[in-house]
Amino acid sequence: MNIGLLGGTGVEGKGLAIRFAAAGIPVLVGSRSDKRALDAARDYSELSRTQLVTGCKNEEMLARCEIVFLTLPFGRAVPAVESSREHFRNGQVFVDVTAPITFREGRPDFVELDAGSSAELLARYMPAGVDLVAAFKTIPAHALADLPTELRCDVFVCGDSNEAKERVMKVAALIPSLRPLDCGPLAMARTLERMTFLAIQLNRRYRRKGARFTIQGI
Ligand SMILES: NC(=O)c1ccc[n+]([C@@H]2O[C@H](COP(=O)([O-])OP(=O)(O)OC[C@H]3O[C@@H](n4cnc5c(N)ncnc54)[C@H](OP(=O)(O)O)[C@@H]3O)[C@@H](O)[C@H]2O)c1
Repeated sequence: MNIGLLGGTGVEGKGLAIRFAAAGIPVLVGSRSDKRALDAARDYSELSRTQLVTGCKNEEMLARCEIVFLTLPFGRAVPAVESSREHFRNGQVFVDVTAPITFREGRPDFVELDAGSSAELLARYMPAGVDLVAAFKTIPAHALADLPTELRCDVFVCGDSNEAKERVMKVAALIPSLRPLDCGPLAMARTLERMTFLAIQLNRRYRRKGARFTIQGI
């Protein structure tokens, strides 16, 4: 089993790569540039203290990985999927971590989408045979990318395929102190994406970088 990152050279890709590699899972960092992918992979291998991270172009990563996390800015997600349709693999699970939030002069803005959520918009463009799951939307990238930080929080997972959700929850559970919770169908991404917005607002108000969620009572 391996994990790929579409646009894995940003801070979210870095965090996921380090955590999954540290959990013993081979990770393939995708980029538009071979050089950026290879540089990032070298960096992430060092930070995860493993030899498990390698890098290549996004298209090659898509053709080689079983579970692919899309770690692009949300506005780039649909064009990226559209332009690389032929590289997806049948039976692949595609994980959307995006939130429709833009920043102007450092101020976050939540973008209302007709589709309901970034995940539901992306679902319209998924190639046949690829299941979309939304997850990790509420986990702050800075906390993920700092391996000594204990995450001690919940990772919310939603999607319309139970089998795909289970596969994502299984790999998420390999990251220490992260508890995956099945939140139901893909439409629950509407709530999760707003929770990301809430976490960003809390970080701004309290001058922190790591606001995240734990559900009590489950
Ligand atoms: N930051 C957080 O705490 C956090 C938490 C949860 C979810 N997320 C979500 O994670 C996603 C990634 O966030 P990020 O801050 O890591 O993003 P980012 O650094 O802005 O971008 C990630 C990568 O996307 C690629 N990219 C950028 N513009 C592109 C374009 N026009 N076309 C194709 N590829 C492009 C770049 O890779 P190459 O140049 O190497 O191709 C870049 O390194 C976002 O959707 C965000 O909502 C973030």
